[in-house]
Amino acid sequence: MSGPPPAASPLRIDVVSIFPDYLAPLRLSLVGRAVSDGVIDLRVHDLRGYAHDRHRTVDDAPYGGGPGMVMKPEPWGECLDDVLGATRDALLVIPTPSGTPFTQAQAADLAQQRRLIFACGRYEGIDQRVADHYRTRLPVAELSIGDYVLAGGEAAALVMIEAVARLVPGVLGNADSAVQDSFAEGHGGLLEAPSYTRPPVWRGLAVPAVLQSGNHGAVAAWRAEQSQRRTAANRPDLIPPG
Ligand code: 6GU
Repeated sequence: MSGPPPAASPLRIDVVSIFPDYLAPLRLSLVGRAVSDGVIDLRVHDLRGYAHDRHRTVDDAPYGGGPGMVMKPEPWGECLDDVLGATRDALLVIPTPSGTPFTQAQAADLAQQRRLIFACGRYEGIDQRVADHYRTRLPVAELSIGDYVLAGGEAAALVMIEAVARLVPGVLGNADSAVQDSFAEGHGGLLEAPSYTRPPVWRGLAVPAVLQSGNHGAVAAWRAEQSQRRTAANRPDLIPPG
């Protein structure tokens, strides 16, 4: 079966990592199909190819002391210069637990870009001068996916790329499904109502009668109430004040 025709200009996503195999899941499922359909032009780069000493060193001890290692700036500079070429028309994303929160609104913003470059650090992060230098040349976003610490930026890049890819036109089968999602503007910033499918009774549990009523107004009202209830219980921080 052949997919949809590729978009006039695909979203180009470059990912730099010392573990390029970590990004293999991007060849699967929804994102994988977008890549094979040519809607997303995905390129993964091995940072070690830009380390030239005998041991291909990419890290060193932190100035000022402290535990762990810091990624050296030189391999990053060579690699990102190479990946960028002459363009300034890209957003450089640096996944880091010290970044600003990655949200659905951020995902929508990233999906509007022509090019995204993900710089995945390991250890205690990348020498800060890499972000500071590239900020003089193009927009740079240091983004965190949540309040916990991962061993590196790769898993966070997977999360962000999947969230972005499904907002790229031509990636989702049903053009409406992104609008209905939890956190989407069309949903009032609340969590989604629960969903059900057949059979009508499973292990003694019945599907709510209103969903089988065929009354679209009643269904919409039930879902709005469930959204409100779920959000109050699970994410009270998302309930608008007032
Ligand atoms: Cl983006 N990177 C790492 N290493 N840890 C994280 C994170 C990112 N977001 C939350 N924790």
